[in-house]
Amino acid sequence: MCGIVGVLGTHEVAPLILESLKRLEYRGYDSAGIATVNNGTLDRRRAVGKLINLSDLLVHEPLTGKSGIGHTRWATHGAPTVTNAHPHRSGGVAVVHNGIIENFKALRAELAAAGLVHETGTDTETIAILTRLHLTQGMTPAKAAAATLARLEGAFALAFLFEGEDDLMIGARKGSPLAVGHGDGEMYLGSDAIALAPMTDRITYLEEGDWVVLTRAGAEIFDADGRRANRAVSRIRLDQTQVDKGGYRHFMAKEIAEQPAVLQAALAFHLDPSGQALSLPDEVDFSDCDRITLVACGTGFYAAQVAKYWFEQLARIQVETDIASEYRYRQPVLSDKAVAIFISQSGETADTLAALRHVRDQVARTIGVINVPTSSIARETDVALPILAGPEISVASTKGFTAQLLVLLLLALKAGQDRGTLSADQVKDHLATLASLPGLMRQALDRNEEIDKIARKLAEARDVLYLGRGMMYPLALEAALKLKEISYIHAEGYASGELKHGPIALIDKTMPVVVLAPRDALFEKTVSNMQEVMARQGQVLLISDPAGLEEAGEVWQSITLPTVPELIAPMIYAVPAQLLAYHAAMVRGTDVDQPRNLAKSVTVE
Ligand code: G6P
Repeated sequence: MCGIVGVLGTHEVAPLILESLKRLEYRGYDSAGIATVNNGTLDRRRAVGKLINLSDLLVHEPLTGKSGIGHTRWATHGAPTVTNAHPHRSGGVAVVHNGIIENFKALRAELAAAGLVHETGTDTETIAILTRLHLTQGMTPAKAAAATLARLEGAFALAFLFEGEDDLMIGARKGSPLAVGHGDGEMYLGSDAIALAPMTDRITYLEEGDWVVLTRAGAEIFDADGRRANRAVSRIRLDQTQVDKGGYRHFMAKEIAEQPAVLQAALAFHLDPSGQALSLPDEVDFSDCDRITLVACGTGFYAAQVAKYWFEQLARIQVETDIASEYRYRQPVLSDKAVAIFISQSGETADTLAALRHVRDQVARTIGVINVPTSSIARETDVALPILAGPEISVASTKGFTAQLLVLLLLALKAGQDRGTLSADQVKDHLATLASLPGLMRQALDRNEEIDKIARKLAEARDVLYLGRGMMYPLALEAALKLKEISYIHAEGYASGELKHGPIALIDKTMPVVVLAPRDALFEKTVSNMQEVMARQGQVLLISDPAGLEEAGEVWQSITLPTVPELIAPMIYAVPAQLLAYHAAMVRGTDVDQPRNLAKSVTVE
């Protein structure tokens, strides 16, 4: 989950690489570095922390050369220090790496026995040393890199640069994404197309196990067996790569505000032009399905938990949800009639991808609910449904979450239709309800100023509890995740009914308790739980609709949302949860878009 980039250019490459790394910074920001070859001489600059530090360093210590590789790091092996920052170098070899080399300890011992000493605690340095060894054995750079690749176990995307070779760069992909960019007399490598967008819109996505030899004249791609491979060049849509803040202070604010438009676009895409019928690929068929498995990580997992309610209610089908990192190792009982759905914004999360690979031959069908259409999960599922959220840059997911929810709801409606638990008229009615979603979401966004004021009070707390029942329970989990990941305030989400089984012990007058409770069938029960909190001096912030707020009576703080149909309440109630977290983080002065220790795309286990 680092970002890598490489350029064989016709001008100085350091500024180009910096610009690309800026677009990859969402993948990690513990350190950054660039290496270039200038008239045969290999040199590098590295700095701890965000890219800005590397940028400053380059002002004082410029790096010249028209060939270069760059890296932005999310630390796995070795602390975030300059020594451990990429590019790693051994003799005339420089390497940048995204992923984990699982057998690096064995390789390290082998190299040490041969007298080759590591200077860093990283697994990546092993790659550089091994390649250098192969060079000293008389191999060409390409052969040396290939010989190294043959020894590596684990997941990686790599870019190699060699001293004395101004017109050569080698890339490799196994388990982590890597794209080749084609320019006019220039060639590029990047972790994703967004990184390369300022330079080219002509992209080749490498397949698993591919490695590539780049010169300015073009790319020679080899598959895992060393055979020449033909991989298509595709043109990417530049509107999919726009990553400016559009006048907002943070990407997160922009992405929250984009939600009505995103949901509108997703509805238009997945419904027929009349808006009264689903328009999903034929492979999305639940007729013979005996259970649904939903697998994801992070925010996607909470979307899955909401969807469980929809699938059960609308399609009366057994549903299991699991965190990908648990699912793949817990020997799940599978059915050849099951439909397994993998939810991932990036489509590259290592655990989710591994879970997919683990089950795909044992279930009837796999479906991806993804945002990046060229991602591994999109390509490896039987059918991939785009959520059409556009680039999500803020590490904390917002529009990705609500767009995932929408697509999952459409899938639940399809399941109900296929299984005969919903009549054609009922599906039509539900779709008519969905048409009001973007407008209702706009109304929720209109509460921004009011939420800002309340967030100022919330920001003073050390701990915050979120409560919800039914679909508001997973939403409470997501709301707590949002708050903790960007404001660093400790927060937990609980099912309201579980309060008295433990968390109530935490309640006192310093503890805000955010209650997500539309006035629905479960409302009275939630209000009882709220009373239990208030009886113990807990500070209740109630998020509800006018009827709910009136019925609940006096509370510490409240946020009034529009009255919304139960079916779409999770999407609408996500908005105040996101805005509360955002404004609380602003008060705390944290780095909203790039919170400490996190990364957007987690391509390591
Ligand atoms: C990281 C991100 C989260 C995201 C999770 C799963 O932890 O910070 O925002 O929910 O990964 O990512 P995915 O791309 O698979 O949805």
